[in-house]
Amino acid sequence: MAEQALFSAQYLSPEVQAALPEGYKLRALRRNDFDAGFLDCLRVLTTVGEVSKEKWEERYDWIARQDGTYFILVIEDTTASPPRIVGTGGLLAERKFIHNLGAVGHIEDIAVAKDQQGKKLGLRLIQALDYIAKEVGCYKTILDCSEANEGFYVKCGFRRAGLEMAHYH
Ligand code: ACO
Repeated sequence: MAEQALFSAQYLSPEVQAALPEGYKLRALRRNDFDAGFLDCLRVLTTVGEVSKEKWEERYDWIARQDGTYFILVIEDTTASPPRIVGTGGLLAERKFIHNLGAVGHIEDIAVAKDQQGKKLGLRLIQALDYIAKEVGCYKTILDCSEANEGFYVKCGFRRAGLEMAHYH
């Protein structure tokens, strides 16, 4: 169980893997990635908090039970000792009643370690998530981002559409 990946390797884009720098690996999140710097990678995005390994495993197991819904990718630098997660991004496949029982992809929590930014890893993550969205059958993929990141997503092929609203609890 500990080594098991969150989802099948059939969802991993071979083109994206081929385009990564030498020694960098695209793969699904694993239960033991707590020890590979997954949460540290996310810290460039927002507050993560103090998450214990026990709580991490509880959350991982819950996510893993939502079969076919959460696709969390990581890019691992296998040349580092020990190997280290340098990028991550997620796709949530939301199944709907509308659009003939269609599905919408939600891109969430894209983060590239500070010292690895500017190497196209962010772009590769989005391309890899787009690949998953197509494999799952999503008719569109959407995301929320700050104005500061709009240019990045435009370069990834997205365009501004609609307006985000939030109600914090
Ligand atoms: N504004 C405009 N263009 C940008 C930006 C930006 N903020 N960031 C990157 N780009 C451009 C690059 O210059 C590059 O352009 P080029 O093809 O002309 O050379 C292209 O976008 C691809 O850039 P990458 O090298 O793939 O970007 P990187 O690997 O640095 O990842 C990311 C970008 C994910 C935004 C990274 O900087 C990061 O982790 N930032 C902190 C966390 C964050 O803000 N994440 C996004 C939150 S939104 C969400 O999760 C849905």
